[in-house]
Amino acid sequence: MPTADHDPMNANVALDPDLLELLKQASKAAEHAYAPYSRFKVGAALRLTNGATITGTNVENVSYGLTICAERSALFSAVNLYGPDIRIDAVAVANLNNAPSPPCGACRQVLAEFIHSDAPIVFPAASGTRVMPFSAVMPFAFEMKLK
Ligand code: THU
Repeated sequence: MPTADHDPMNANVALDPDLLELLKQASKAAEHAYAPYSRFKVGAALRLTNGATITGTNVENVSYGLTICAERSALFSAVNLYGPDIRIDAVAVANLNNAPSPPCGACRQVLAEFIHSDAPIVFPAASGTRVMPFSAVMPFAFEMKLK
């Protein structure tokens, strides 16, 4: 088993300028978070194949369970704005808490519906900023193949 430092998936790589810009947009989106319960402010930015960048932030609820994450917030906005045929080319996630925040499992499953398997996912990890292809972040998404 490779250690974090030797695992190429875990490298604290230099981001290309496009991904760096996407990450900045995610950070900016996090400033709009409604997170009075966790105080964890998350932003997500999606780059679509049509060239658009769509952002989202987490919106919490007093019932807790009805909270929506930044990633799904961004994705639902993207579908609202551009329709059901959108494809995602890249995703960046950031938070204002200086903490690790990979996309949660629910968001991975939802992203799977609209994303290229090789799309880079950029997120803050314990080891620094990580970039991983979506296929590595979500290797076994649920699929429904009806006969
Ligand atoms: N959160 C996100 O926005 N994205 C994730 O992928 C994980 C968690 C939010 C939900 C909640 O408002 C706060 O972070 C703490 O869980």
